[in-house]
Amino acid sequence: NPQDIVTGVKNRIRVYPDFPKKGILFYDIFPLFQTPSLLNDVVRLFVQRLQPSDTSNEQQAIDVVVGLDSRGFLFGPSLANHLDASFVPIRKKGKLPGEKYSVSYSLEYGVDALEIQADSIKSGQRVVIVDDLMATGGTMSAACKLVQQLGGIIKECQCVIELTGLKGVEKLPDGVPSYSIVQYE
Ligand code: PRP
Ligand code: MG
Repeated sequence: NPQDIVTGVKNRIRVYPDFPKKGILFYDIFPLFQTPSLLNDVVRLFVQRLQPSDTSNEQQAIDVVVGLDSRGFLFGPSLANHLDASFVPIRKKGKLPGEKYSVSYSLEYGVDALEIQADSIKSGQRVVIVDDLMATGGTMSAACKLVQQLGGIIKECQCVIELTGLKGVEKLPDGVPSYSIVQYE
């Protein structure tokens, strides 16, 4: 039952005021990983959103799961495995070798950049992007731009947690759907 999974996740997430800085309410998802069955349920919720109603329709299958450095890497490979899709990382700048695309995004103070390897997604491939949490949406919207630059078709942006008060979803490119398992104001 999806509602039981949501409750289970909420019970496992730990909330830390003033971490890593004063004024920031930090949502720690690592305790989820101490309950393997719950983690499995989370990934299955993500998968359910993506499976075509007609499972024989190969045209609708997801080709690539993109995970965001670093906590998106905790979910991306298992999701990709369940979908029989590839896994591709988007990393913070300076971590990936070879030819790559780069997009800058704003942080609380200043800017940083995210990068993807140029040959990791082929034009027309169907992509899902996964991360642990959406706050301002800066990270996720930068990731969307990178995927779209490579010609990927984003079927959904998926997060375990969404901080709805920050309206990150509104930053995503037009027409890109998003899904989160638990929401906090
Ligand atoms: C956190 C979180 C998301 C992002 C959300 O990552 O894991 O990726 O912030 O914030 P936003 O919606 O305002 O962009 P962080 O950059 O702290 O790094 P980490 O995943 O490497 O811990
Ligand atoms: Mg992150």
